[in-house]
Amino acid sequence: MNVLLLGSGGREHALAWKLSQSTKLSKLFIAPGNAGTSKHGENVNLSINNFTEIQQFCESNNTKLIIVGPEDPLVNGVADFFENTNIKVIGPKKDGALLEGSKEFSKKFMQKHNIPTAGYFSVSKNNLDEGIAFLKTLKAPYVLKADGLAAGKGVLILDDLNDAILELSEMLNGKFGEASSLVVIEEFLDGIELSTFVLTDGISYKILPEAKDYKRIGEGDTGLNTGGMGAISPVPFATEEFKKKVEEKVVIPTIEGLKKDKINYKGFIFIGLMKIGDEPYVIEYNVRMGDPETEVVIPRIKSDILDLFIGVAENNLSEKTIELSEDYATTVMLVSGGYPEDYQKNKHITGIEDNPNSLVFHAGTKLENKKILTNGGRVISVTSFGNSIESALEKSFATAKKINFEGKYFRTDIGKDLLNL
Ligand code: AMP
Ligand code: GLY
Repeated sequence: MNVLLLGSGGREHALAWKLSQSTKLSKLFIAPGNAGTSKHGENVNLSINNFTEIQQFCESNNTKLIIVGPEDPLVNGVADFFENTNIKVIGPKKDGALLEGSKEFSKKFMQKHNIPTAGYFSVSKNNLDEGIAFLKTLKAPYVLKADGLAAGKGVLILDDLNDAILELSEMLNGKFGEASSLVVIEEFLDGIELSTFVLTDGISYKILPEAKDYKRIGEGDTGLNTGGMGAISPVPFATEEFKKKVEEKVVIPTIEGLKKDKINYKGFIFIGLMKIGDEPYVIEYNVRMGDPETEVVIPRIKSDILDLFIGVAENNLSEKTIELSEDYATTVMLVSGGYPEDYQKNKHITGIEDNPNSLVFHAGTKLENKKILTNGGRVISVTSFGNSIESALEKSFATAKKINFEGKYFRTDIGKDLLNL
């Protein structure tokens, strides 16, 4: 069958790479894609939020399955748009996408379905006094979240109560635009973070490999937040016993909760977790795969991913099996100098071919006059396998050193915190 994949990052390159190995695939289109995805299919110049244009393309190219990489088209209703057509979408409709699109919605959902999460209180301009009173009942640090999507920047963690009160007012006064006209104040969860990934057809589910990502730009988790500087899977502290708890206390109640609330959810659920002692707490839901988590999660899936997506589209995921690799996968992100603040584009990337020990996933790249150029902050994600984190990392770092472009930067401490636990 023909498939259209929406997106242009490392996540989409990893998905395109995996889809291209499927015996069920005839032709893969990626919109808009990057220099890496073009090796596994045809990049097409469509706007991922122009659903009419996407429909015309699918109809002209005999394409009946759309896989959505990023959250934007989902929150904007791509799955709703195609609902009564013969084109199937892997990704939730707007109602399900609210799990990511509204922090308040996701907190209410968790509370209603007894899914462990931090206590919270929602504040708008109308109940600011109550919000301040709630903040005063909490211990530092204070967690403030813009309700809506704020390009990953809408969460503030503050040590001082007066700062938190000030920031709360600024958020309500438009610090993150419309996204922060409602603010969720949360209890601070003190533990270690990891993420779990689920694929569901709305009836049953498959749990994909878990991962840990590294969000800050600097070594030792310092400096500004980024989209993600690297990831590791499996996560050594996610023992079988802990993963069982995650399934029983989080995954099953989430799938059952969606059913009870009549949200017919098809697609990925990315569950950000805090492990406190031996217990999982949900920090957030995303309605898509993570990036760069996808670059370690997807390569560890041995099964045909298109067959799993067909199971989602045809409501028979329960009949499919999923086989996972026992190996460790590590990914190290090469970024443009200056990222996540201002950076330059159009730098020539060399050393990108012939890296037999790694999978080189492109993120912000483009092909121009047969040259691969940088085209974003996060440029290349270097994934490697090994029978230990160390051996996988050794390969990722060796390849990361070999690939070059002006201003290249990567964190050399990815995964190192997991070695002595
Ligand atoms: P979110 O966008 O909700 O994932 O929040 C971004 C990051 O803020 C998370 O990955 C956590 O590191 C941190 N965070 C969010 N909520 C909490 C919380 N309640 N307690 C501690 N850390 C949090
Ligand atoms: N790496 C975090 C995310 O994709 O949201």
